[in-house]
Amino acid sequence: MENLCSRWSVTLIFFIILLTSIHLIYTQLFLHLTINFDNIKLKKSPQLPLRFNSDGTFKILQVADMHYGQGLITRCRDVSPSEFKYCSDLNTTRFVKRLIEIEKPDFLAFTGDNIFGSSTPDAAESLFKAFQPAIESGLPWAAVLGNHDQESTMNREELMTLISLMDYSVSQVNPFVQNLSGQRERALLTGIDGFGNYNLSVHGPYGSLFSNFSVLNLFFLDSGDRATVEGRRTYGWIRESQLNWLRGFSQADQDEHGECNHFGGSPLTRKTPPAPALGFFHIPIPEIRQLYYQKVIGQFQEAVACSSVHSGVLKSLVSMKNVKGVFIGHDHNNDFCGNLDGIWFCYGGNTGYHAYGKVGWVRRARVVLVELSEKEKSWTGVQKISTWKRLDDELSSKIDEQVLWDQNSEK
Ligand SMILES: *[C@@H]1O[C@H](CO)[C@@H](O)[C@H](O)[C@H]1NC(C)=O
Ligand SMILES: *[C@@H]1O[C@H](CO)[C@@H](O)[C@H](O)[C@H]1NC(C)=O
Ligand SMILES: *[C@@H]1O[C@H](CO)[C@@H](O)[C@H](O)[C@H]1NC(C)=O
Ligand SMILES: *[C@@H]1O[C@H](CO)[C@@H](O)[C@H](O)[C@H]1NC(C)=O
Repeated sequence: MENLCSRWSVTLIFFIILLTSIHLIYTQLFLHLTINFDNIKLKKSPQLPLRFNSDGTFKILQVADMHYGQGLITRCRDVSPSEFKYCSDLNTTRFVKRLIEIEKPDFLAFTGDNIFGSSTPDAAESLFKAFQPAIESGLPWAAVLGNHDQESTMNREELMTLISLMDYSVSQVNPFVQNLSGQRERALLTGIDGFGNYNLSVHGPYGSLFSNFSVLNLFFLDSGDRATVEGRRTYGWIRESQLNWLRGFSQADQDEHGECNHFGGSPLTRKTPPAPALGFFHIPIPEIRQLYYQKVIGQFQEAVACSSVHSGVLKSLVSMKNVKGVFIGHDHNNDFCGNLDGIWFCYGGNTGYHAYGKVGWVRRARVVLVELSEKEKSWTGVQKISTWKRLDDELSSKIDEQVLWDQNSEK
């Protein structure tokens, strides 16, 4: 009798183990291996073209140098010893979310070193974590690469491709060219250096005279990573092919605006000036060094780490005539704006907690506000461009507010 009982319990235990194993194999393995067609989704795209709000404003948040690693396990750099223990990449995430909440921007521009390649074994995962606040916000956003993004498992082309496919991203791997035969087809421009060169136009508010026209142009350039020139290591630079493209599209834009009345019966018959343009890239140009001897707004606390190659970027930008501001990153301890030949060059300042910085100098980000002018109760072209920074301190302090351009003072 006793014998029979123990044989029963052994059989019972055997069945329990067998069923548990089958269940585990099913849930842990089988479900992961089958393709669930319900989960396949298309990229979520924001409404394009970008557009001014009905109150005539368009606000851009610049996020520089997030230097994202793996998230919670990636420690902060250059914070005080007391802050170190509870500080990780998640502080960067929190800060970017807070910036979006406080400023309510219309557009986010990430100016490179979004991820810090050498701190992550998986570039794609790191990118998704870094851009999570942007993706969750549902706001249109764009990014360029810095010199550290590709130091992991993806090259620059792969990174820009993935970034361009993320939800609400309006980033492009490279510019499209309109097929000359007037077709709607667009082809990727070839023969341009780098990955992440593109332009975006911002149209006037719905219902305004300018609702079908660009009143503000945004352009993005790949400033490269590193290079060896005459045996010496230096940073990348913006190449002639990129400047050629930039001058080309600014010329096209000016021709369009110069062509007189394309406003379909509008009272505007005189020539309108070309829409102002704002540029975004990562590595500063050598000319920015001159600003050390000029009055700047913000802090100049670090040598400008630019390329040894002078490729004439400033000259090209000046020749375009409509460039009012350029926004860069790379030197985390600089957050100033300075003017060179009529164009403002502004650093974003340090946003990332895993990025090097200065203990006691709080993380920050730049905001750019563009406002239209109002004539006869209708919005017309851009009136004013201003900027300030937000700090990641207790009060989210707003500092260094300044006007970059005002149409009235230009005349
Ligand atoms: C990082 O985030 C944690 C959790 O919110 C916070 O306690 C800590 O003060 C933050 N550290 C810094 C340096 O902001
Ligand atoms: C325009 O597109 C057509 C059809 O795709 C192609 O055959 C033609 O070569 C294109 N033209 C240019 C200038 O790219
Ligand atoms: C970029 O500029 C060119 C030339 O002005 C224009 O044809 C094109 O539509 C612009 N692209 C975007 C996305 O605005
Ligand atoms: C803009 O284009 C739309 C669609 O083609 C048209 O209905 C509208 O009247 C245009 N608006 C202006 C101000 O030209």
